[in-house]
Amino acid sequence: MVEIVKPALEHLPSYKAALERGWSPDNVRLMEATREQLAAIDQDPAAFLASLDDPEARGGPITLPDGTQVPRLPGFRRWIWDGEASGSIGFRWQKGTADLPSHVLGHIGYAVVPWKQGRGYATQALRLMLGEARVIGLPHVEITAKPGNPASHKVILANGGRLVERFFEDAAYGGVESLRFRIDL
Ligand SMILES: CC(C)(COP(=O)(O)OP(=O)(O)OC[C@H]1O[C@@H](n2cnc3c(N)ncnc32)[C@H](O)[C@@H]1OP(=O)(O)O)[C@@H](O)C(=O)NCCC(=O)NCCS
Repeated sequence: MVEIVKPALEHLPSYKAALERGWSPDNVRLMEATREQLAAIDQDPAAFLASLDDPEARGGPITLPDGTQVPRLPGFRRWIWDGEASGSIGFRWQKGTADLPSHVLGHIGYAVVPWKQGRGYATQALRLMLGEARVIGLPHVEITAKPGNPASHKVILANGGRLVERFFEDAAYGGVESLRFRIDL
């Protein structure tokens, strides 16, 4: 069985082991994020866990891949869990609107550890996260995925998503083409 859990101390050893195996929960910053998280866990585990749950956007600004800094949106992260850390799924939003700034690539992002892919974990995690998004009160969520990521497209379509448009990511991300999907809540 797979579930999504609010990251807590009891999950941390398994999550840390996944990072140490070279997995990244961040699809944009990849190993840079892995290294940062391992350092943060070593420095102050409780503060690291607290930083993952930030519905009031109390954390500091976000640095985009080109170094630009932007304000943090409200958001929180859940870990995909089957008795071991299996992945990560995050949700962020703007208060009072389903719109996102153009530099934010979707409301929801996810990654499953490579050694547990293809078991339906991402599909189930997104289904569960949509339940949490409904509680926030948004009419829909947007998820973006690269044209060359059919596994992610399937995850979105299996959750009632539809393709809205092809677009070019902000220059801060390198301006490559991507796909925008929408899921009504
Ligand atoms: C995308 C990702 C999260 C999917 O996780 P997952 O747990 O393996 O997904 P699921 O098991 O729920 O499977 C999704 C579907 O994609 C299919 N799939 C998996 N890999 C595939 C591939 N390389 N090509 C085509 N389809 C693929 C699966 O068979 C499944 O289809 P099915 O339901 O018809 O059997 C995972 O591949 C991943 O972490 N990738 C790296 C990070 C990433 O790309 N995140 C998404 C950014 S938008």
